[in-house]
Amino acid sequence: MKIISVVGARPNFMKIAPFCRAIEKQNQENQNSTIEHLLVHTGQHYDVRMSSAFFESLGIPDPDINLEIGSGSHATQVGETMIAFEKVLLEEKPDWVVVVGDVNATLACSVTAKKLKIKVCHIEAGLRSGDIGMPEEINRLVTDRLSDLLLTPDAMSSDNLRGEGAEEERISFVGNIMIDTLEENREKAEERNLDAVIKENLAHDTEYNEKALKDDGYAVMTMHRPSNVDKKEVLEPLLTFLMEEVAGQMPLVWPIHPRARKQLEKFGLWEKAVATENLVLLEPVGYHDMLRLNMGAALMLTDSGGLQEECCVLGTPCLTMRWNTERPITLREHGGASVLVGNDVEKVRKEFRNTLDKDRKPMRPEKWDGKTAERCLDSILKISD
Ligand code: UD1
Repeated sequence: MKIISVVGARPNFMKIAPFCRAIEKQNQENQNSTIEHLLVHTGQHYDVRMSSAFFESLGIPDPDINLEIGSGSHATQVGETMIAFEKVLLEEKPDWVVVVGDVNATLACSVTAKKLKIKVCHIEAGLRSGDIGMPEEINRLVTDRLSDLLLTPDAMSSDNLRGEGAEEERISFVGNIMIDTLEENREKAEERNLDAVIKENLAHDTEYNEKALKDDGYAVMTMHRPSNVDKKEVLEPLLTFLMEEVAGQMPLVWPIHPRARKQLEKFGLWEKAVATENLVLLEPVGYHDMLRLNMGAALMLTDSGGLQEECCVLGTPCLTMRWNTERPITLREHGGASVLVGNDVEKVRKEFRNTLDKDRKPMRPEKWDGKTAERCLDSILKISD
């Protein structure tokens, strides 16, 4: 059997790492019927800190093929990926294409494979925010409609698919593959020294006060969604609150995504952020460093989906700066660590005060046990028999 797995952007890398390992293990144990596996990187993310650093630190094999699509509008990224990926499929003729998550690579490669009548498997199927204004929601809907095998992280996602009419034999509840990576790397992250994490990643030329950061005494944030960073009238008040009230209370560590940095510079807010005492601006950080920051933080503020999940398992109280989530299982009302606060300063302020009093309460949804990748591969092998 021949499988092509696809990655494109940063959040894909931690999902594909355990799947690659599951295939290697399967091949070692079954040397008479090995799986031929090719890894394709579409190249949507290309900076060392956004891409190759993750391959190295997570032990992902180098991509067999890099389509080098790079940045561009959504149509450009999706269109160019489809053209380039079609050539790969015609040449390689795989039995399966495996896509993960909800980025543009996920959409482009699943459509291309399906049109060539190649079977598609989607890892992390069934998540729905209900917000069709999000590019990721469009990617999820299209990918899931086309996929032959829908591997879901939780029972709610399986129900979403059933509600949309997906046939039962296409759906398999396997758990959350990101948590395989978290468990595999937990120890390495714990060993990271907090000061070293900061010093090695500072985003600008500045002195760092070594005594500033202590476990449980700082907040960490990430923010990159177009809905939060692309409009000055949204970003500026949010940033003012974060700089004055959050950083006014405790050190606030912010590893900055290239999109967010670009927008800060464009709106003339970068210098102000740099000058804010107690706001520690970092370059995009590697997997272990981000996990370390998350483990030690009193509080997370984020608009990332993956971090909501990691906070849930680590128990870090999390303010999710979105109005909806495709990951409701991570919310407090379902036992998780996260609460939706949108990007309205009043709401963020209220929940910020409220959340500071919350204790760390790790929670592990069913099958978030570090063994999801093996279940993913088993599901593929089962329907290929
Ligand atoms: C993409 C995903 C999003 C995911 C995010 C995580 C889609 C639709 N969105 O959004 O779901 O949460 O990745 O990072 O696929 N850039 C660099 N260097 C890079 C990559 C990007 O400087 O290595 C800059 C580009 O100039 C671009 C901006 O960052 O303008 C945004 O990148 P893009 O790939 O368009 O989408 P993300 O916002 O990263």
